[in-house]
Amino acid sequence: MTRNVQQLFDLQGKVALITGGSRGLGLQMAHALGEAGAKIMLSSRKAGDLEQATAELQAAGIDARWIAADCGREEDIRRLADETLERLGRVDILVNNAGASWGAPAEDHPVSAWDKVMNLNVRGYFILSQHIAKHSMIPNGGGRIINIASIAGLNGNAKGMNTIAYNTSKGAVINFTRALAAEWGQYKINVNAICPGFFMTKMAEVLIKSMGEEAMAAHAPLNRLGDDEDLKGLTLLYASDAGKHITGQWLAVDGGVSVVTGG
Ligand SMILES: NC(=O)c1ccc[n+]([C@@H]2O[C@H](COP(=O)([O-])OP(=O)(O)OC[C@H]3O[C@@H](n4cnc5c(N)ncnc54)[C@H](OP(=O)(O)O)[C@@H]3O)[C@@H](O)[C@H]2O)c1
Repeated sequence: MTRNVQQLFDLQGKVALITGGSRGLGLQMAHALGEAGAKIMLSSRKAGDLEQATAELQAAGIDARWIAADCGREEDIRRLADETLERLGRVDILVNNAGASWGAPAEDHPVSAWDKVMNLNVRGYFILSQHIAKHSMIPNGGGRIINIASIAGLNGNAKGMNTIAYNTSKGAVINFTRALAAEWGQYKINVNAICPGFFMTKMAEVLIKSMGEEAMAAHAPLNRLGDDEDLKGLTLLYASDAGKHITGQWLAVDGGVSVVTGG
């Protein structure tokens, strides 16, 4: 029987693991998945922030817990996957979101910072996806992987924003998404990416303030920055049966910034 829209978006009985979930976009997506009924496992490096974020989710009636792990370290990523599977039995939805950036002109960009950004933003996504797919999604007959890329992965930057490693890493995340979707479609694992525009989070704050908050907003056709609700809809579409025929795609959630010529 054809399901109605509420049923298609329902995540009751699903388990979601969100990296970088202690604040910002990761926490927003955790709210979305939890509000739709999924059990939530949050992860990031700082236990205190995770405790606070988990309490916030629980206060909203969401079934949530946390594990501290550094997604830049392979042994931490494996421990995160193993402990999550031990405690929750499965992962149906993986959100690869923990990321880092570095600002410096390309000619002076430290190679060590290049390695740090690529390690967390690309290698970290790969290792966690591999572990969760192999030990949960493939044996369980499917799953959803949502990779947080960026509009920085689609183009170069406007003058004044110098983040060559970050742009490169986010471009890699977009093709990682396509290639993984092509390989893992046979396992009913859908892999999709989100390209956020500018959201006022801890990571983006310095950049947005240095460019001017109002000027950044005015640059978007919709005349606004992203807010605490703007990623919820697409996250839920990718995570739920409403999006079961979508794989290997990216969508920008950016107020239109990425469609402006000369943007
Ligand atoms: N905000 C924007 O405008 C924007 C635009 C496009 C894309 N994005 C992407 O969105 C994602 C989330 O960024 P955000 O803006 O929400 O930033 P944020 O508020 O600074 O949050 C970053 C999260 O990642 C965690 N994290 C950082 N390094 C980590 C590591 N090595 N291992 C595990 N967790 C780590 C942080 O917690 P700990 O520091 O405690 O580990 C925090 O939970 C990133 O991939 C970013 O590139 C953001």
